[in-house]
Amino acid sequence: MGMTISKLHKMMTDQDSITMLTCTDASFANIMEKTGLDCILIGDSLGMVFQGHKTTIPVTIEEIAYHLKCVSRGCENPFIVADLPYGTYNTLDDANHNSCFLMQEGAHMVKLEGGLEYCPTVEFLSSKGIPVCAHIGLTPQSFHMTGSYKIQGRSEEQIKTLINDAKALEESGALMIVLELMPTNVGEQITEAISIPTIGIGAGNKCNGQVLNLYDMLNITMGSIPKFAKNYLANENSVEKAISEYIAEVKSKIFPGAEHSFD
Ligand code: KIV
Repeated sequence: MGMTISKLHKMMTDQDSITMLTCTDASFANIMEKTGLDCILIGDSLGMVFQGHKTTIPVTIEEIAYHLKCVSRGCENPFIVADLPYGTYNTLDDANHNSCFLMQEGAHMVKLEGGLEYCPTVEFLSSKGIPVCAHIGLTPQSFHMTGSYKIQGRSEEQIKTLINDAKALEESGALMIVLELMPTNVGEQITEAISIPTIGIGAGNKCNGQVLNLYDMLNITMGSIPKFAKNYLANENSVEKAISEYIAEVKSKIFPGAEHSFD
């Protein structure tokens, strides 16, 4: 048996940082497995870095399932989280149907974006034996609600909402939570307020683990990579060494440093 959610929870308790990267294919998944990476995310950011869309919104459940199957064939050990893409969990029936589909295609957990408003969905899926990772802070599927990818948790009110969302999602049964794009101290406050692992992306080094988009950390994303990402291929001559270096820096809390975080 490879990585499991109970092992991830123990890592959190032991203060052993959890490492996660996005992945879309078997060959990269196989390299990730060799490096000992804990978790792989079939993230809907593949819509931007793999498919060339401007947002994650066009990604379909069939496309996530396709990449999930490719990744599953390339590795045995990492814990595999699959994104429920835009519009696939608006009703409990849809959430159930699409989550079961991804679990049967090889996911160990599904991830959905949103706070308090998605607690009934998380509670329903959990009650049916479907492990859920929540995702709060910047939620890219809501891009057109604001028209920007802005840092979250800047005001006291926003911070309170994020902490309350995280607590409510945990109470509803979420077993892990991604925190995206927020100041380090907000990532820290949320991590302290709940007892499920927090996986940060642009949320500082106080989270229980970190996730990056593979294309960002290899610096092959179109255009420039975000401030919170680091080019791990810059000083290494192979993808395997770059991923190993990422793991070493997350485990030792060197990454994310101040230059990859927000105040
Ligand atoms: O799709 C994705 O890559 C994600 C990360 C931002 C966590 O959801």
